[in-house]
Amino acid sequence: MARTPLIAGNWKLHYGVAATTSFLEGLLERELPDGVDVVVCPPFVSLPAAAMVLSGSQVGLGAQNVHWAESGAFTGEVAAGMLTEIGVEWAIVGHSERRTLFAESDDTAAGRARAAQAAGLKVIFCVGETLAERDAGETLAVLERQVAAVDGLDTEQLVLAYEPVWAIGTGRNATGEQAQEAHAFLRGRLAASFGRDRAEAVRILYGGSLKPANAADLLARPDVDGGLIGGASLDVDSFSAIIRAAADCAAEEIP
Ligand code: PGA
Repeated sequence: MARTPLIAGNWKLHYGVAATTSFLEGLLERELPDGVDVVVCPPFVSLPAAAMVLSGSQVGLGAQNVHWAESGAFTGEVAAGMLTEIGVEWAIVGHSERRTLFAESDDTAAGRARAAQAAGLKVIFCVGETLAERDAGETLAVLERQVAAVDGLDTEQLVLAYEPVWAIGTGRNATGEQAQEAHAFLRGRLAASFGRDRAEAVRILYGGSLKPANAADLLARPDVDGGLIGGASLDVDSFSAIIRAAADCAAEEIP
């Protein structure tokens, strides 16, 4: 089944309003290929400025997190309805930095994803094993546990991101074979919950030190449907090179 590749930039704690505006103006000056969906996820405070620059463009806008409640005593959190109000269409949920640094659990991630979808946001739900888990042969068991959180979700508004923790920000990416194995496992798990047709339609992104030099190998794998890019999404040249690689790979997949 042909899935449109998605390249999403996770800017993490980078780029305030001025830097966001100039980055996106620069990105929109590039000739971006057809046939690839592109999303950028700046920090919350930069989202309104990003929405203004991106209005009417082919580049979508996402938040890096979203709260599970519509409102209430949740200091420092942002609700899904507040995001849709300013034109945000996507939310990353369950990123490993949220899990390891900010005590995100499978349950809280599931609640955030449900609330996001209920408000009309599309969810990029992140899963991935640590190095210790991989070395202990627990990778697939960890993925199985983490991906159970998407069971109640609408698959049409869902993207999965396989992000091995040991590959994030380390310069050490998973190989194409490692990524394909994890992605195929995740798709099988989706098929068990939702049926084969719906599982085949869900895009599964790879994330973790994805950059122009390794994009072709990773993105050409049959179950790798794009990337969630951290460091390499902070530079217009490297981000647009990855977008072009995704377009090229969409045609020629490695079995
Ligand atoms: P990285 O981050 O590309 O800098 O490894 C990916 C991510 O954390 O989403």
